[in-house]
Amino acid sequence: MSTGATLSLENRRILLGVCGSIAAYKAAELIRLLKQAGAEVQVIMTPDATRFITPLTLGTLSGRDVLVDLFPENAAHAWTQHVHLGRWAELALVAPATAQTLARLAQGFCDTMLAATLLSARCPVLLCPAMDHDMYHHPATQANLERLRHYGYEILAPAFGPLASGLVGDGRLPEPETILQHVAALLQRKAQLAGKHVLVTAGPTREMIDPVRCLTNPSTGTMGFALARAAARRGARVTLVAGPTLLPTPAGVTRIDVVSAQEMYEAVVQHAETADLILMAAAVADYTPVETSSSKLKKHQEELLLHLRRTPDILAELGRRRRPGQILVGFAMETDHPLENARAKLVQKQVDWIALNCLNEPGAGFGTGTNRLTLLHRDGYQETLPLLPKEEAAEVLLDRVLQQTTT
Ligand code: C5P
Repeated sequence: MSTGATLSLENRRILLGVCGSIAAYKAAELIRLLKQAGAEVQVIMTPDATRFITPLTLGTLSGRDVLVDLFPENAAHAWTQHVHLGRWAELALVAPATAQTLARLAQGFCDTMLAATLLSARCPVLLCPAMDHDMYHHPATQANLERLRHYGYEILAPAFGPLASGLVGDGRLPEPETILQHVAALLQRKAQLAGKHVLVTAGPTREMIDPVRCLTNPSTGTMGFALARAAARRGARVTLVAGPTLLPTPAGVTRIDVVSAQEMYEAVVQHAETADLILMAAAVADYTPVETSSSKLKKHQEELLLHLRRTPDILAELGRRRRPGQILVGFAMETDHPLENARAKLVQKQVDWIALNCLNEPGAGFGTGTNRLTLLHRDGYQETLPLLPKEEAAEVLLDRVLQQTTT
């Protein structure tokens, strides 16, 4: 594969972290390719990386002094450099990223110049793990990678093949050309929603019957949180209005916690005015008790009748109020006549898209890590996506929404 002259990274500010792995030699070629594409490259090495390749080599190729020490000698003010560099970078990548550095980053340690800088970085960070097969597949490394994904790091999986140990398996650093392609794709993706405000709802709502009982549903918020994360990755300012859920807030996302449908309504209406794109993935309760008892209801009677009233339909309200150019995406969870019901919702709620998931399909719906979405657009476009992890389903959904908007 040759990227050569066609790929431009003109004046893009790239931070390259290099760790102590035999694959550190590939960093030299990677720097050459990044420079050839027009990027400015600042290299930071971990102390162990200097055992594999010298700062002189990487500094010469990058045209900038390589940083290694967090506390360089004879540089009284240099200790804040990690903060400035973290802000300077448009994209950071770590290639190769060792098990040790992944563990450091997963725990938030900042005992090396590289870790401290990445902790200060606001830009997308691409990690390219490289290590022996068993080290890569060890549950500790996999758990660290999972945690890092949650923090918003991008992970480029290592390649399969001969390893420095003589074994054959997973753990090879992908070729510099492949890494370069990912860098370019990440920078391009970050520009997609730059300057845009994306509002997302996620999770269930809780309608209190008394202080200890409520009406709710099994939504975990996974789909909405994945959408918020995906929009933030694309450079958007993201407001996430979340019902009760234990999920961690995705990096770079402003979260507003609510409990009831009424609270969700108020938060959404307040932030919808400035939103360019609204993704309503929350499973909002349709009914709430007419009265909430302030003390716990005693179980004296054999039967208890609850008197319920409709909650505000937030999406339908946004459909009525929406301003020109604002894109509205609703979700639908159906058990019967799913397509007819979803199409009817497009019209009734005056939205651009409905993402339909059918509860009776395996792997779709509440509390699973996967989803099988059918996307319906008001102009008649319809596409059923394969069963995908919710993170990927969120990316495809955003791809389609953005394609439709630009064509
Ligand atoms: O009408 P239905 O509940 O099936 O519509 C689902 C869509 O409407 C979802 O996008 C959901 O977030 C939204 N919704 C809402 N307010 C409600 C009920 C649903 O915004 N009260």
